[in-house]
Amino acid sequence: MNDYYLKLNSQFLSYESIMSYLKHNEPPWRYNYHIGQARIPSELIKDDFFKNLSRFQIYPLLIKMQPTFFHKWHTDATRNAAVNVQLISGHSHTVFNDDPADKFGHKENIKELIYEPNGIYLFNTQKQHAIMNLGCERLVLSCTFETDDSYETIKRFCLENNL
Ligand SMILES: [Fe+2]
Repeated sequence: MNDYYLKLNSQFLSYESIMSYLKHNEPPWRYNYHIGQARIPSELIKDDFFKNLSRFQIYPLLIKMQPTFFHKWHTDATRNAAVNVQLISGHSHTVFNDDPADKFGHKENIKELIYEPNGIYLFNTQKQHAIMNLGCERLVLSCTFETDDSYETIKRFCLENNL
């Protein structure tokens, strides 16, 4: 069973709202290595999943990654899960594999999360993942939870509520 991510049933409805905001505003980007993160106003996200997940104190975060950048295997330091929508792919690949690498740093049986346009994904950030961006700047909406609930708890809630 895939415990790396869950594709939600709904389609993302707030792409235009975010892009219009970015056209007229410069979000407060904070940079860590070659990755920028910025919170954006919650009102921009019109989708039901966002309202339904408010019990986990969800907030919208944009993450941008520079062109031709590889973000090495890692788990997120400060969050158990996220709800991701890829806004601009940049010809990027997101892969998971939670097995330890061999002594050469190699991994087998990696699994790719192939983002569909307007697809919404609950992402298990406590499983090892890596991102390779081969193209232009990549932009992802990565909604984050302020509560400390586990990926499994949030996943169960999503399934029970048909999000
Ligand atoms: Fe990550």
